[in-house]
Amino acid sequence: IPVDPFDLVVFGGTGDLARRKILPALFRRFQAGQMGESSRVIGAARSDMDAEAYRGFVRAAIEEFDPQAASDSAALEEFLGRLSYVALDAKGTAGWDKLAGEVSAGRIRAFYFSVGPGLFGDLAQRLHDYGMADHDSRIVVEKPFGRDLASARALNRGLAQHFQEHQIYRIDHYLGKETVQNLMAVRFGNMLFEPLWNSQYVDHIQITVAESVGVGGRGDYYDRAGAMRDMMQNHLMQLLCLIAMEPPAKFDPDAVRDEKLKVIRALDPVAPDNVVRGQYQAEGDKPDYCTQVENPDSRTESFVALKAHISNWRWAGTPFYLRTGKRLKDRASEIAVVFKEAPHSIFGAGAGRHRNILTIKLQPNEGIELGVTIKEPGPGGMRLIDVPLDMTFAEALGPDSADFPDAYERLIMDVIRGNQTLFMRGDEVEAAWAWTDPIIEGWEERGEAPQPYASGSAGPDDSLMLMHRDGRRWREIKP
Ligand code: BG6
Repeated sequence: IPVDPFDLVVFGGTGDLARRKILPALFRRFQAGQMGESSRVIGAARSDMDAEAYRGFVRAAIEEFDPQAASDSAALEEFLGRLSYVALDAKGTAGWDKLAGEVSAGRIRAFYFSVGPGLFGDLAQRLHDYGMADHDSRIVVEKPFGRDLASARALNRGLAQHFQEHQIYRIDHYLGKETVQNLMAVRFGNMLFEPLWNSQYVDHIQITVAESVGVGGRGDYYDRAGAMRDMMQNHLMQLLCLIAMEPPAKFDPDAVRDEKLKVIRALDPVAPDNVVRGQYQAEGDKPDYCTQVENPDSRTESFVALKAHISNWRWAGTPFYLRTGKRLKDRASEIAVVFKEAPHSIFGAGAGRHRNILTIKLQPNEGIELGVTIKEPGPGGMRLIDVPLDMTFAEALGPDSADFPDAYERLIMDVIRGNQTLFMRGDEVEAAWAWTDPIIEGWEERGEAPQPYASGSAGPDDSLMLMHRDGRRWREIKP
């Protein structure tokens, strides 16, 4: 789909996210023909370098993080020709006149704040002061959007001084993932599921976002955040909203976001014994969490699991179990909707207990699996077994179907098109913090330390108990 010509300024244009995600994503969209001839990308950061040096930096980034795309060297050179660079001081005046001269009036201008939240207010102010905050402008802000309700409110207030809500794109890159959008297609495109999508038929829902990597080189940020702020408050919360929300009347930004907000607002406070935190231990030559973040006494969690309840007509009585962590058994994310058992077995006690489970596999092998109960083949009488109706998208739709755009590609183009459906609204982010704040404050007040867990495991034992004590169990973490 063609998009209008645009100028995209990437603040933090030499940072890690720009290198890994934003610039490679822009290059792939360029290759897909979505950057018309006059569209341009302007890197902006503190470092003093010229456009030529920046192009070298971007070339190296794309070669490192998307070597396959970079092998199209003619396209890469052409793309680099669309780049320029401005060295500027976010808190001062240096560089701003130059930037204002680089972006053209009267066309779409997007400003990507790929910087820490401490600079959001300054950038918004400077854009205003230098005449770049008009109705054609939009700003994109990265997470973390604050570290609690008070700071998120302050950020929202700061941005609102110069930009209206429809100009502010708060990124949660999980919303840009293909399968996450598929979640809405499955729920609202089929007759089959929605009538059963409530506490009368659903026993419980599990959401797992497991990572096998540790905190890597981001120890400084991560140790101040932890899994609750880094993943639960945003990515898992968004998944929870999409799985639990009422059908929006339309697939449009406010219709969808209104429904998500209602879910967050209906969440009960989480009792302390319904949350488990963990911290990974060393394994072989891989250091333990504290060593990795260079903070021997760290009480930050690299794993969190919790049981949530949504107090509304649809979900009263159905628990939602959520977990996420680093250095777990595998990189595997999924949502499992576990239905109740049939009310009565006509086959007698010997047939066993069976449940349908609908699993939406988010990554790495995107697909959907529906567990159904059938008769075990053969002459042995009416014995029941569970088999999966399994659809990996790559198998069902051909290998090219697995080649969908990365979340950042999708989201950046949505910014240019002016479509906010897959972005978080200010009130949503605040509501999510309002729910997580008391959980975190509780840990701090009680001085609670996270439980150690073995790297490569499924997390601390208490997280298994969280379900066992309810007579349930987590699904295996596997891709
Ligand atoms: C980021 C978190 O938002 O999401 C990281 O800050 C995490 O800690 C990452 O690793 C996971 O994203 P993905 O797309 O790899 O699942």
